[in-house]
Amino acid sequence: MKELKDYSLLHHNTFGMDVYAAYFVEYGSEDELCTFLKQKSYKLPLLHIGGGSNLLFSGNFEGTVLHSAIKGYEIVAETSDTVDVRVGAGEVWDDFVAYTVQHNWYGAVNLSLIPGEVGASAVQNIGAYGVEAKDLIVAVDTVCVDTGEFRRFTNKECEYAYRKSIFKLDLKGKYIVTYVTYRLHKQPVWHLDYGNIRTELEKEACPLTLENLRRIVIRIREDKLPDPAQTGNAGSFFMNPVIPKEQFEALRRTYPDMPSYPAGENFVKVPAGWMIERCGWKGKSLGHAGVHSRQALVLVNLGGATGQEVMHLANAVVASVKEKFGIDIYPEVNYI
Ligand code: EPU
Repeated sequence: MKELKDYSLLHHNTFGMDVYAAYFVEYGSEDELCTFLKQKSYKLPLLHIGGGSNLLFSGNFEGTVLHSAIKGYEIVAETSDTVDVRVGAGEVWDDFVAYTVQHNWYGAVNLSLIPGEVGASAVQNIGAYGVEAKDLIVAVDTVCVDTGEFRRFTNKECEYAYRKSIFKLDLKGKYIVTYVTYRLHKQPVWHLDYGNIRTELEKEACPLTLENLRRIVIRIREDKLPDPAQTGNAGSFFMNPVIPKEQFEALRRTYPDMPSYPAGENFVKVPAGWMIERCGWKGKSLGHAGVHSRQALVLVNLGGATGQEVMHLANAVVASVKEKFGIDIYPEVNYI
């Protein structure tokens, strides 16, 4: 177990905030984690982080930051059609996607290049191009923060919804994910109907293979989303709001080109990025924080931004969207 004091979190948050944690603890196994939690001698508050790709620190963290170094892939079940792989929470998410593609297993490829770690995929229910982590998750192994005891959650018990799970809502901060079991398919299962995936495939006239689809998803993401190694950001800063169909129809009379995605019988999801762009924010900045010039849903650290500056910009964007469209948008990024 690694235990450090006054530790810089610069390399643990993709926004690139140079903030410090009073204590930073990295464990390599479930047993180490259980022992640590049962001792109850750590400085509160406790914050568990993954790749730090969905966090915005407003300043130094005065408690204990925990990080998983639990690694490894294990095939735990297999049929003629499917394979279940149990993955350590500290594995890098995109390494896992690459591993599934190498093995010619279907299901995860649309989620290529999403930053972050395996543990967070089960908490955030990460998603892209018509696929969400919940579509693959069979079970989530956790340790209870209060008792240090193990608990396995089935997919159903995780109460997954768009970018949500029980671990972000009712059980927030109560369980730490140690392993996630995903089910992949041996026979082709494609999701090609979201956005420009199909048109990009056709443009290249390349055969439909997992490798080619992975390459195209990576290229689409790289075109729109800034590389955190160069420009601090946390991917989509806001969630796409879900609104009643009637409200959408009324808005469509004013904005006939407003896009939407189905979200159940009486609701639609509207892209916040589209509304933010229509409010004139794309490429604009306040202080050292900006709205990305190629994807308005992404806020960026233009260099030396503080968390407060990013939050200030986020609040201004939220107010504009509310004023113009009458819709509330909420951050997907967690404020710390
Ligand atoms: N749009 C604009 N202007 C913009 C951005 C988007 O008009 O500046 C329009 C696009 O033209 C399109 C629609 O909005 O009609 C949707 O845009 P896009 O396909 O880029 O997806 P998104 O809804 O903005 C979501 C996810 C992304 C994910 C993409 C692709 C959320 C909060 N974000 O973004 O996830 O990669 O779909 O599936 O759901 C992330 O969560 O960090 C993330 C990057």
